[in-house]
Amino acid sequence: MSNTAPRKILVTSALPYANGAIHLGHLLEYIQTDVWVRFQKSRGHHCHYVCADDAHGTAIMLRAEQEGITSEALIDRVSREHQEDFARFGVAFDNYHSTHSEENRHFSELIYTRLRDRGHIATRDIEQMYDPVKGLFLADRFIKGTCPKCHADDQYGDNCEACGATYTPAELIDPVSAISGATPEVRSSTHYFFKLPDFARFLKGWIDDDHVQPQIRNKLMEWFESGFNEWDISRDAPYFGFEIPDAPGKYFYVWLDAPIGYLASFKHFCDREGIDFDAYWREGSDAEVYHFIGKDIVYFHALFWPAMLHGAGLRTPTAVNCHGFVTVNGAKMSKSRGTFIKAATYADHLNPEYLRYYFAAKLTAGIDDLDLNLEDFAARVNADLVGKVVNIASRCAGFVNKLGGGRLSGHCAAPELVARFISAGNEIAEHYEAREFGRAMRRIMELADEANTYIAEAEPWVLAKQAGRDQEVLDICSVGINLFRQLMVYLAPVVPAMAEGARHFMRLESLDWDSRQELLLDHEVAKFKPLMTRIEGDRIEAMIEASKEDLVEEQKLKDTPKGPLAGTPIAPEIAFDDFARVDLRIARIAKADYVEGADKLLRLTLDLGGETRNVFAGIRKAYAPEALEGRLTVMVANLAPRKMRFGVSEGMVLAAGSGESIYLLEPHSGAEPGQRIN
Ligand code: MSP
Ligand code: ZN
Repeated sequence: MSNTAPRKILVTSALPYANGAIHLGHLLEYIQTDVWVRFQKSRGHHCHYVCADDAHGTAIMLRAEQEGITSEALIDRVSREHQEDFARFGVAFDNYHSTHSEENRHFSELIYTRLRDRGHIATRDIEQMYDPVKGLFLADRFIKGTCPKCHADDQYGDNCEACGATYTPAELIDPVSAISGATPEVRSSTHYFFKLPDFARFLKGWIDDDHVQPQIRNKLMEWFESGFNEWDISRDAPYFGFEIPDAPGKYFYVWLDAPIGYLASFKHFCDREGIDFDAYWREGSDAEVYHFIGKDIVYFHALFWPAMLHGAGLRTPTAVNCHGFVTVNGAKMSKSRGTFIKAATYADHLNPEYLRYYFAAKLTAGIDDLDLNLEDFAARVNADLVGKVVNIASRCAGFVNKLGGGRLSGHCAAPELVARFISAGNEIAEHYEAREFGRAMRRIMELADEANTYIAEAEPWVLAKQAGRDQEVLDICSVGINLFRQLMVYLAPVVPAMAEGARHFMRLESLDWDSRQELLLDHEVAKFKPLMTRIEGDRIEAMIEASKEDLVEEQKLKDTPKGPLAGTPIAPEIAFDDFARVDLRIARIAKADYVEGADKLLRLTLDLGGETRNVFAGIRKAYAPEALEGRLTVMVANLAPRKMRFGVSEGMVLAAGSGESIYLLEPHSGAEPGQRIN
């Protein structure tokens, strides 16, 4: 310890939703947090890291229903899966809990009743779309219909993907519930609101007081200027969550009890470990509290959450630390391209510590997005961890074994060099503390370069061939091992498993930050085993392929057979002539492409046997473009061309279903492009 008293630090990562698997995007956050926590622990602070599954809400209720199990069974299974994934990536929570827990019910009720009793809760009636078949109120994303502006069908309740228009669900033409297919009706019900404007002055001061990064502060100030609304914190039954104490049939909105899950998980931990919970959470506490989150959930953490805590007489966070989003090979993670990579799929193919290092090497304290370029990833890990760091130990270990019988030299042949490595720890520590992990990694790799240069210039392998110079060789290699030890102290928060291997090799009690001050003289080491191997390109390929297969599996799960007529009654009768006016043709898909900015559409180039057509089809969720090229399908060939945001669509292909369960019509083989069908 750098002669200051240990700090009391509580750290959290955002609580992952309990209806999906952990993927590489999530992992950026959990790895960033875990590295910071491991660093604090290495420095001797009392640092606790807690998390939980975010288990409530409509999405989880519907997912469970779709799988034919109870919400409780779903969240139990997903919690186990999440914890397995985190363990494989070395993300070492001190406690992992659930928002569907007694502790969370207790704190949600406590905070709510305090806010209510202090006058910060309002009620009023609001009108909302209601699914009469399912018997539930529909959030905008559960309503679909035809765009009132451009008449594109199958658009979500708040905006149109084809023309970009925004509107309210009530304005949609022929709105349907995405859950049951029924036509929604407008119904009124009483909702509970948290009066956020009561806290405007407090929040302004809080935001100005260095609790968020400068970029986030600016964004929050913009929100400020456009004014605050009261926050709707209730949802009507049926809802998977906690019922509001004085309001039968009304439930806390999932985002109300989610951050309270931080308290719940910590309480669960304190009860087990005998730690004083209130010492961390009472107003004026001298403990530090940090929330690590992604930039998509700032509003909840930097406005609602501090206001709720303050309003309920609890302390507010020391800082909300925000990070950017992961992209893969320069684009948003994509299921069809195989770059939507689940944690488990990655870990089945590659060493998780490669990813921990790569993320650390690219992380800053800012909120820029972070690109996982898979080529750069392999090159960087191979060059740095394997080529630079492990190389130092593997070059020196053999000589120490052979010439010293596994015992390092009794004196240090390069005291100044080693002293410089030790003092570099102060600068590296500052980078870690400030979450400038990229800077820390660069400084560590500079040191690794220096260590390699020292060995290369001393040429122990040349000396070893000369008579009577064994002690010199042992001295050089002992310096090498001492330098390697310094590097492993600095890298341990990032690559804990590799560090553990190094600790065994060097027979050390610990690699804690301050342990580096003591030189390893006349110290016995174990036989050297390779601590990390190179990334082979074909492992990455295999992971991408496996990720594409994950998509297929998921699709099967989502293909819930709904009755063929469900929600869409047969249309009014037409005459044969009406039908004959529709010109249906066999078409060959000559080319299929993604459409930039539209996550539902593919651009198809259709060959009609001599004539080609450009058609936009809403089938992207179900088909990868590569998989379509060359296939035959059926198209409406005489449909009036339709101007869309991305170009003109000259016809329509025939397909059943929607979203990920969409099925393109395909003729038996032998049909010819251009052939007429009716
Ligand atoms: N359940 C909420 C959080 C509640 S906290 C009281 C939630 N869950 S999430 O599973 O969608 O996301 C969990 C965390 O992962 C969030 O901080 C989110 O920003 C982060 N990420 C999810 N996808 C990500 C990327 N592609 N890249 C980086 N972080 C991402 O939000
Ligand atoms: Zn539109």
